[in-house]
Amino acid sequence: MSSTPFDLVVIGSGPGGYVAAIRAAQLGMRVACIEKYASLGGTCLNVGCIPSKALLDSSEHFHQARHSFATHGIKATVELDLRVMLGRKDKVVSDLTRGIAGLFRKHKITRISGVARLRSASEIEVSGEAPQVVAATRILIATGSKPAKLKGVETDGRRIVHSTDALTLPEVPKQLIVIGAGAIGLELGSVWLRLGSEVRVIEYLDRPVPGADLQSAKILQKSLEKQGMRFEFGASAKSAKVVGERVKLKVLGAAGEREDECDVLLVAVGRRPFTEGLGAAEAGVQLDERGRIVVDAHFQTNVPGIFAIGDVITGPMLAHKAEEEGVAAVELMMGLAGRVAYDCIPNVVYTWPELAGVGITEEQAKEQGVAVNVGVFPFLANGRARAMEERDGQVKLIADASTDRLLGAHIVGPRASDLIAELAFAIEMQSSAEDIARSVHAHPTLPEAVKEAALAVAKRAIHI
Ligand code: FAD
Ligand code: NAI
Repeated sequence: MSSTPFDLVVIGSGPGGYVAAIRAAQLGMRVACIEKYASLGGTCLNVGCIPSKALLDSSEHFHQARHSFATHGIKATVELDLRVMLGRKDKVVSDLTRGIAGLFRKHKITRISGVARLRSASEIEVSGEAPQVVAATRILIATGSKPAKLKGVETDGRRIVHSTDALTLPEVPKQLIVIGAGAIGLELGSVWLRLGSEVRVIEYLDRPVPGADLQSAKILQKSLEKQGMRFEFGASAKSAKVVGERVKLKVLGAAGEREDECDVLLVAVGRRPFTEGLGAAEAGVQLDERGRIVVDAHFQTNVPGIFAIGDVITGPMLAHKAEEEGVAAVELMMGLAGRVAYDCIPNVVYTWPELAGVGITEEQAKEQGVAVNVGVFPFLANGRARAMEERDGQVKLIADASTDRLLGAHIVGPRASDLIAELAFAIEMQSSAEDIARSVHAHPTLPEAVKEAALAVAKRAIHI
């Protein structure tokens, strides 16, 4: 066993864990981070946010070269080299994960490889190449999440796959069926659609991207349909099996049960918290009915000295949420005023157009009985969007009817992921729609659509 206990041992090196480790080191703690995978960065860097965005960017270039260049007067013959595209994605990942290792060295964080299992609130058993017991004054669990399973549908990693395998398909499937119209289904569905697959999305609910502003999600659906993606709502897969090189599935839809088939079936029906092998329950750590670790306002579990953050606790499963919690948890441990602004966490789906939202939706305002004014501005009327040949989408702002305070913002359109930052900040600063409307936005830019939507809240947009 290590003789002097570490001030903090973090289990898991995803965006929650590695950011917490760095912040703890900045605050003077002696820190170790235990990770079972060979590279640091967790789901986000290795098999999540980063590789999916690398493929989204590459496939978007391919799609534009095939379908949009001609409009700009550019003639090109385009051919896909999938091996190079996947190789570039892998390099982006390995460069970034090595970057985290460099940050650990810079902050003198001890990296321990292996699977961590809690022995008590002050001891962790690590199995792997160098088995050991690590002593800790405090333990932070940041073990993240894994893909949720779909009853009757067993993945084989080749034909019936989860997101991880869908990032490395060796060839473009002729027909891809996606179960689940959430972030993963639409993002990875878009990647393979752009590369030439025929993509059909089967969704249990009557709409895509549950939780997002309904009007914006419907606009996104229309745009994706224009690109060739097909949607079937109120449907699910009951069972699926691989027969030769095909997947045969039974779909239960609005018209009853039917047989269907495809080359690859992507199961994207959510993620579940990951605590397998951790020994959390044995160490007395309370889990809720969905397997999430229960924490208090200081991210401490019911066992004093054991804390948890990120996908393994309640809340949206997002990298930036995990990071914020990592920082706040460590600051609170040190008696500082750590805080996560849960009501202004942006949520983005990186399709094209992108879908981004922060704060409450129009539906939620109605449910909560909050009287609001809504301002909408279409990208069709934005000069920069027209220069970019981007016509789909809009900015929609929701402001309290009596105070004008901004309560929600929902964008579907080009670079919505970047545009939402101004609005997350505005909500955090408790700005009014008029604050945004009165601030000068450079011309010609996409953010002018945000200003115009703010003007539209007071029914005085200039360009519509
Ligand atoms: P994780 O990143 O899951 O990290 C947990 C780490 O703990 C892992 O490395 C795991 O190996 C390790 N671990 C687990 N148990 C043990 C143990 N017993 N011992 C040692 N190590 C252990 N979010 C966004 O915000 N934006 C996006 O664009 C986005 N895209 C995504 C795309 C895909 C395809 C997927 C799957 C997810 C995406 N997400 C995105 C979600 C995001 O990846 C997660 O919300 C985020 O990674 C959660 O961070 P975390 O630190 O809580 O856990
Ligand atoms: P999700 O929860 O976003 O979407 C899952 C979808 O599957 C939902 O629409 C749900 O109604 C549907 N579904 C569930 N069971 C079904 C069934 N039996 N049949 C048909 N449809 C069914 O989950 P997803 O897309 O798997 O992503 C997992 C997590 O990863 C999410 O929490 C998300 O926040 C995160 N993520 C975030 C990204 C981003 O921020 N851009 C990108 C990818 C993932």
